[in-house]
Amino acid sequence: MSARSADRHDCARTVPVRLWEDGFASDPHRYYAALRAQGPVGWAELAPGVPAYLVTDRRAALEVLRDTEAFSHDPRAWETSVPADSPVLGMMRWRPNALFADGAAHLRYRTTLIDVFDLVEPHDLRARVHRAVRLLAGRIGPRGEADLVADFSRPLMALVFNDLFGLPDSQGDRLDLGLGKMMEGGADAAEGEAEYAGYVLELIAAKAEQRGDDLPSRLLDHPAGLTREEVTWQVFLTLGAGYEPTANLLSNTLSRILGNPAYYSTLTSGARPVTDAVVEVLHHETPLANYGVYYARRPLSFHGVWLRDAVPVVVSYGALGHFSEREGAGGRLPNDASHLSWGAGPHACPVRQHALLLVTEAIERLTQWLPDLDPVLPRERLSWRPGPFHRSLTALPVRFSPRSADQSGVPS
Ligand code: HEM
Repeated sequence: MSARSADRHDCARTVPVRLWEDGFASDPHRYYAALRAQGPVGWAELAPGVPAYLVTDRRAALEVLRDTEAFSHDPRAWETSVPADSPVLGMMRWRPNALFADGAAHLRYRTTLIDVFDLVEPHDLRARVHRAVRLLAGRIGPRGEADLVADFSRPLMALVFNDLFGLPDSQGDRLDLGLGKMMEGGADAAEGEAEYAGYVLELIAAKAEQRGDDLPSRLLDHPAGLTREEVTWQVFLTLGAGYEPTANLLSNTLSRILGNPAYYSTLTSGARPVTDAVVEVLHHETPLANYGVYYARRPLSFHGVWLRDAVPVVVSYGALGHFSEREGAGGRLPNDASHLSWGAGPHACPVRQHALLLVTEAIERLTQWLPDLDPVLPRERLSWRPGPFHRSLTALPVRFSPRSADQSGVPS
């Protein structure tokens, strides 16, 4: 990294690409192309008046993700420059958890999270998914039509995550509502943040009173000795980091499979694994599109741009996957190594295997149960939820032959 020089470009003089506009959800790649036209690091707005550097180049992204001397995950210096009612604060404000910590503090939180998730065995996770699919397919099966976002992906992940976190099935709607509004980063974000925080606080109060066989109880009892407040914020992070993107990965993958009849038939016949479709989604519609948020520790020159400190440097996983495939693969099929959708470096997703298992298992079970899912709309007419951080379908309507749970051939 060199000192500032006249040839370094100060982004603040460029018109920012507005990721908060309505058009971003319907055509993100047009926005990413505009950012790429600025170079490896572009100038964007996450909300009106909230600027950020967007990293759209793989090499630059890996430097941000790995160079902990130059980049921090701690947003506190930035927060002082943002209006208290900014809609992106819910997603970006500092909390004592793994995502916003560096160095030793980060390692302590992260190790604790990895330890408790390691105790969730694949067969146990599979069983939880099967239970949830059975419940939901039993509900929608006789109808012959459903919205796979509202009737399947989101309630399924709410059921599985509430199960893992020791909450009853009946709490799914509350989780969905609060977290969903916070994630969109729009006018209702503050309300969503308060609702979701209330949800987590109640959960930790209950587990502090009486332990169960669940993740929060294991965090409370972990030998690292996290305080109750620290446990609260690790749960706030993991439940949020798990539920929303995994539900979106599931919906986005289902839409890709259903939008391509050839694909669907090879998947239902077992000739092509579901993971192929997941990898395609991780390139084109990765759920955490712009949520690798870092900060330069001090002003620095970086890939032709003068980076100011206390301004978010956002690794655009959404832009990276798309362009790496088009430019780098040289005609080869996309593969799991040519996107960065799980992040990289010390903060890379610690739970990617769990997330993958949840998604593939849910799709395999659903398509066994309802083998003739037929999309009502072509893929290009599907609509996407607003928000700078995520790639999330609004709805995925389908029809199928009605089926009741007691019909033979239905997985138990
Ligand atoms: C079981 C579901 C999941 C859980 C519990 C989970 C949990 C987490 C946690 C706790 C972190 C922060 C790690 C740290 O700061 O050290 C993280 C990071 C991350 N996760 Fe996941 N995650 C899940 C699913 C997903 C999915 C579906 C995606 C998208 C494909 C994803 C992408 C990421 C990325 C990109 C990061 C790094 C963000 C950064 O650069 O700071 N995760 N995840």
